Amino acid sequence: MTYKILKCICILPLIMACSEKENVSIQGAPTFDTYTEAPKIQEVAKPIDTLKLAAEGKVLIEKADCLGCHKLNETMIGPSYVDVAKKYDYKDLNYLAKKIVDGGSGVWGAVPMAAHNGLSQENSQKMVYYILSTKK
Ligand code: HEC
Repeated sequence: MTYKILKCICILPLIMACSEKENVSIQGAPTFDTYTEAPKIQEVAKPIDTLKLAAEGKVLIEKADCLGCHKLNETMIGPSYVDVAKKYDYKDLNYLAKKIVDGGSGVWGAVPMAAHNGLSQENSQKMVYYILSTKK
């Protein structure tokens, strides 16, 4: 009787070791859990959309009068885009888009920015996406 129990105790870890071996994964390799925890497609797509909008905004800025007063890296009549990008974030998107349409002064100095009345809010937002993308 005692021998049987002893045999059981001896065999049990062996069986466990064997069955465990099947679950052993290569170290560092992604497991199933890693995939289920991966970001959803929408979250992945977001930065890609931002890049697309920024690319469209860059084209719009090049076609408009912006570059007469703004440069990428140097202050001219208006602040450089890099400086604007440093000061703001995507949460300021609507404010900046409206400012480009309305124009105004007082944030960077007394010199006013010209209004852009023909510009749609949508295209103005694309310009802001480009400006913010210049952040270093
Ligand atoms: C006549 C010169 C002029 C033109 C043209 C111009 N800007 Fe400006 N811009 C300025 C000045 C000056 C300021 C600073 C305004 C201030 O201090 O409030 C400014 C500020 C800005 C700001 C920052 C706004 C803020 O409140 O911080 C953005 C963004 C901007 N311009 C984008 C544009 C875009 C995009 C265009 C083209 C559609 C454009 N600007 C055309 C002169 C200009």
